[in-house]
Amino acid sequence: MANVTVIGAQWGDEGKGKIIDWLSNRAEMVVRFQGGNNAGHTIVVGEKTYKLSLLPSGVVQGKRSIIGNGVVVDPWSLLEEIAKAGAAGLAVTPDILVLAENAVLVLPLHRELDALREEAASQKLGTTKRGIGPAYEDKVGRRAIRAIDLKDPASLPGKIERLLAHHNVLRKGFGAAEVDAGALLAALNGIAPSIAPYIGSSWRELDAARKAGKRVLFEGAQAVLLDIDHGTYPFVTSSNTVAGQAAAGAGVSPRAIGTVLGIVKSYTTRVGEGPFPTELKDATGEKLGERGHEFGTVTGRKRRCGWFDAVLVRQTCITGGVDGIALTKLDVLDGFDEIRVCTGYELDGQHFDYLPADANIQARLVPVYETLEGWKDTTAGARSWADLPANAIKYVRRVEELIGAPVALLSTSPDRDDTIMVSDPFVDR
Ligand code: IMP
Repeated sequence: MANVTVIGAQWGDEGKGKIIDWLSNRAEMVVRFQGGNNAGHTIVVGEKTYKLSLLPSGVVQGKRSIIGNGVVVDPWSLLEEIAKAGAAGLAVTPDILVLAENAVLVLPLHRELDALREEAASQKLGTTKRGIGPAYEDKVGRRAIRAIDLKDPASLPGKIERLLAHHNVLRKGFGAAEVDAGALLAALNGIAPSIAPYIGSSWRELDAARKAGKRVLFEGAQAVLLDIDHGTYPFVTSSNTVAGQAAAGAGVSPRAIGTVLGIVKSYTTRVGEGPFPTELKDATGEKLGERGHEFGTVTGRKRRCGWFDAVLVRQTCITGGVDGIALTKLDVLDGFDEIRVCTGYELDGQHFDYLPADANIQARLVPVYETLEGWKDTTAGARSWADLPANAIKYVRRVEELIGAPVALLSTSPDRDDTIMVSDPFVDR
């Protein structure tokens, strides 16, 4: 099957939205497989900018779009996003969008718990406060309300009772008011008729697509360094963001996920708390942030910025299962006299060529840099290698060498067409 899976290979915000949009043009189905409305994708098509959070990017092109079982779904947020998309001219009807029946719902109590915990914590995680972590906890704790439950109103009171038996104890500990079972039931029953038409089966949709030989694009959210297992724990999100999750989070064979494309920004950013070895808390960091418009799509928070860290990306290409990368935002590096790339770390006389798992060690690592010559001409809008300055090509080649993965796509502006295709992820392997 000529499928493609796209994942973020740093801490998110690598420019996945544009690449996914570009690829979804050539796919017949687009599937989200993890995360929730903590994600934010910006897609620019001509004069129009679409900001998507829960909706798969396929909706921009009217492609069949699946919210897989691995996603946690805030149904109110979903309806709001569908309405916003409608106002922007995108008809997100049940003919286009399918919500997996076995996807877990994010409820107001999850958002509240996320916020209560963040406010109370001495060491904050910097979550998006969208209730994502608490919803995944309930999923694993086997007390979650799932999309399918909205179609079975008779079962809801018992499920709510089980859920609240857990949450009301927690809330008491935080000094928060108990959640009223009747009010939650009424809220869910209120929303059920609007959500029900979208509810379907992710695995059956994908099985039908496979039998019809359709090209499927699996759309990851967040990124490998935010993966619950492989990321900078505990400063991570609550789902697996690696390519393997595409299979479990959608209901397909691991062999069906196709070519794995890691999205990599030409420098590094991070939102929220946690270790970031190449972070620049100086004028250069400010310059990267300003030139790269580094503000969170979801929370509006200023992103932390730093030089490209090849150690991290080499590691995430391995743990994430990346076959090739799409390198984005090369134009943000235009005009720098020198550009630095991290090739290793030092700590207490010890050298590391990987990111050690201990968060305390991660926080103290001192990056070892290699310095490359910058370029004066612009790379913005380049559509072929011939349009790139020689030093920019050298930079890209050095990145490939250091991370041990080839560049398949190069993105040189937010515009859909400003993309250099080196190899076609849908066919080249
Ligand atoms: P949560 O996913 O809201 O629990 O947040 C956990 C961590 O993941 C925080 O550091 C967030 O800033 C980060 N995070 C979650 N979603 C995204 C994203 O889409 N882009 C970048 N960072 C994210």
